[in-house]
This record gives sequence, C-alpha cells and structure tokens, in this order.
Amino acid sequence: MKYLKVEKYDTDLINQKIMGPNPLKLEEELLENNSIKPGSIVMDLGSGQGITSIFLVKEYGFKVYATDLWSNPEENKEFFEKMGLSKEEIISVKMDATDLKYEKEFFDAVISTDSYNYFGRDEKFLDEKLLPFVKSGGYIYIVVPGMKSDYHGNLPEELLISWTPEQLEYIQDIEYWKNIISKSKDSEIISIHEMESNEECWNDWVKCDNEYSKNDKKAIDSGACKYLNFIAIILRKK
Ligand SMILES: C[S@@+](CC[C@H](N)C(=O)[O-])C[C@H]1O[C@@H](n2cnc3c(N)ncnc32)[C@H](O)[C@@H]1O
Repeated sequence: MKYLKVEKYDTDLINQKIMGPNPLKLEEELLENNSIKPGSIVMDLGSGQGITSIFLVKEYGFKVYATDLWSNPEENKEFFEKMGLSKEEIISVKMDATDLKYEKEFFDAVISTDSYNYFGRDEKFLDEKLLPFVKSGGYIYIVVPGMKSDYHGNLPEELLISWTPEQLEYIQDIEYWKNIISKSKDSEIISIHEMESNEECWNDWVKCDNEYSKNDKKAIDSGACKYLNFIAIILRKK
C-alpha cells in the first residue's frame, strides 16, 4: 500500500525514534477509514519514544496521552515540544498498562501499535484493566506483530536466528488473538484481520542502526517474513 501520510516524515527522524517494525506505516494502515473523530481524546498505549503519538496528533487531529512504561517521559516531553506540539495537544505519561491511573471513562479511543502483545495476552486484561478507562461506544485500534500460523510446536529456524522460543511467545497467530479477544464481555469485535503491511515495515526497522534492529536483521534477511504478519484488532466498547 502507499503510505501517503508517513511519506511526509523525515526517515532519519523515524529511524531514531522507532522501537520496532515501522509503527507509522502500521498505524496508517490500521487507521484507514477509522471511526475516531478529530478532537477525540486518545490514549496511545505503549507509545515508546512518542513518534506514533506525534503522528496521531498531526495526521488525525486527536488529543493524545502518550502512555508508556519503559521510555523516559521527560525525553518524550522534550521531543513533543521540539516538534512544535503543545500540552493541550499531547501529554507524556509513564504508566503501566496493567495498572492505569486515569479517570474512568476518560478516553474516546485507545490506539496501540506493536505493544499490546506485551500486556494484552491475559484474557482478563481488556475488560478489567483497559476498557474501564474508555467511554461507552469508544473505539480500540490495535496492531500486533503476529505469525501466519501457529508455529510454536515446530519453530522455523529463520525465526530462531533472532528470537528465543520465550520471545516468540509474544508473537501469536490470528486464531490466538480471536480466542483471547472473544472472551471480552464489554467490547464488540469490529474486525480482527491480517494486515497488508509486512516486509516493508520490517525492512524499515532492520535498516535502523541500533542493537535490537541489528539482531532482528538476521532473521528478516534470512526470509523470516514468510512466517510473520501483522494483525489488526478493532473493537468498540459496549
Ligand atoms: C516494541 S516497543 C513499541 C513502541 C512504539 N509503539 C513503537 O512502535 O515504536 C513496545 C512498547 O511497549 C511498552 N510496554 C511494554 N509493556 C508495557 C506495559 N505494561 N505498560 C505500558 N507500556 C508497556 C514499552 O514501554 C515499549 O515502549
């Protein structure tokens, strides 16, 4: 697909800030024809170093709470200011997704790119930990890295070049996610589908010069993408 919104951004800047397969391209595909109105209050959950949060403000007009556990919230705040955004548009928050401290029913929507697989694999997470903070009728847009089929019983060597079996537990197939998400009583599933984005997003990532991308490069260069995909999960809170 053509990523017309992402094309506007400087590749060096993206490469400095991303923490995995090109999250801006994933977000552009995920949010194609999305139902979240401009001006909505949105949580970017697992926002990393904040590049996706900036994209959500600039390209979609959302007011964004960039919520992340591992990154430095002060550095993210400086980055947002440097990019010309005000605290009325974007706020940097260090918070654990499994212990959110926001007001109940505060958000119009949650968007999560390449992060939900870290904390959302517990089937109780959605109803107990996340949806209480979303308004009734609010939307959840998630993209996770996935596998085309469940290879866990016989992991392909191309994947094992870069990742241990324990790390690959974070990467699951569409059936796995359908099973987990269908346990939610408080949301309706709008769509769970395999995305078009794949190799290009991984290739953008492995071109970055950092220790994590260098490790992932070995698997991607050996053809691991034939086993991998990205899975979009789109939900509405009842
Ligand atoms: C692979 S990075 C992706 C970051 C960003 N979305 C991107 O694509 O560049 C995964 C992110 O998930 C976040 N994360 C993992 N566990 C978390 C948790 N329990 N609560 C909040 N964020 C979490 C980490 O802080 C990290 O920034």
